[in-house]
Amino acid sequence: LDEHEFETIQIDQHGPLAVLSVSRPKALNALSAETFGEISEAIDLIMDNAEIGALIVTGAGDKAFVAGADITELAALDGVYAGREASLAGQDVMHQLSSLPIPVIAAINGYALGGGLELALACDIRVASSGARLGLPEVTLGLLPGYGGTQRLSRLIGVGRALDLMLTARQVSAEEALQLGLVNYVADNALSKAREIAETMLRHGPIALSLVKEAVRRGMDTSLEGGLEIEADLFGMAMSTEDFKEGTAAFLGKRRPEFKGE
Ligand code: HXC
Repeated sequence: LDEHEFETIQIDQHGPLAVLSVSRPKALNALSAETFGEISEAIDLIMDNAEIGALIVTGAGDKAFVAGADITELAALDGVYAGREASLAGQDVMHQLSSLPIPVIAAINGYALGGGLELALACDIRVASSGARLGLPEVTLGLLPGYGGTQRLSRLIGVGRALDLMLTARQVSAEEALQLGLVNYVADNALSKAREIAETMLRHGPIALSLVKEAVRRGMDTSLEGGLEIEADLFGMAMSTEDFKEGTAAFLGKRRPEFKGE
């Protein structure tokens, strides 16, 4: 993974942990079409690499996570068709990210605005640095969030809070984001905190982690009854794994489990 060269992102592997940094220093890491293509390619590489058990998404430098979609590129688009296509293309990559079977943590190290916040929302959990600023300023440009923000933000923090952020376009601090439930943690250094959290997750059974994600994600789109059925089915799958045998044997043997993901 380390050997792969990209123009607008960087991807590093540290054992089972991959770190994807969006890196467009001249545009506060704004997402261009090229960046979306590269993120998509990187996600494919991660999917194909069985060694990787967790992913952190962050922004290069110390000023921005991602300051949104690239406004220069957006300004060059025109009309219903182009807008719809741009939205769908971005949504696809966000969906690809949120569908990864491994834990994905956003380390929000600065501005996470517009499409940048939507990128963070497509991750499983979010860690913000103390100085981070988060918001959905699309209405200031005569737009609305188009990479899943109207849907994912409302599901995450509730309709009332989501509408407030989208209709006022205001930026919130890391502390307020924590109160809103928009981020899970605030730390001096978002990336180190994210690594620490990833290490905790990596100690657990990888199949169990992927089944938790699947149960929660699929359950969000259905009734409670349907969701409970999904949970029971996945629970049955978990019980048929070697990891389940290892986890319970380790507990009873008073030792640390060694999960193989089988
Ligand atoms: C392109 C951007 C950019 C962006 C910043 N830059 N954000 N370029 N797209 N989203 C560029 C600036 O033009 C500037 O380039 C350089 O990065 C530094 O930014 P400054 O504005 O000079 O920095 P500062 O004054 O510190 O202000 C930081 C900021 C501001 C508050 C984050 O840059 C800002 O408001 N950016 C736009 C945020 C935004 O509206 N995002 C939502 C986009 S819409 P130069 O060349 O002048 O140095 C969106 C829609 C998604 O995301 C859905 C689409 C379907």
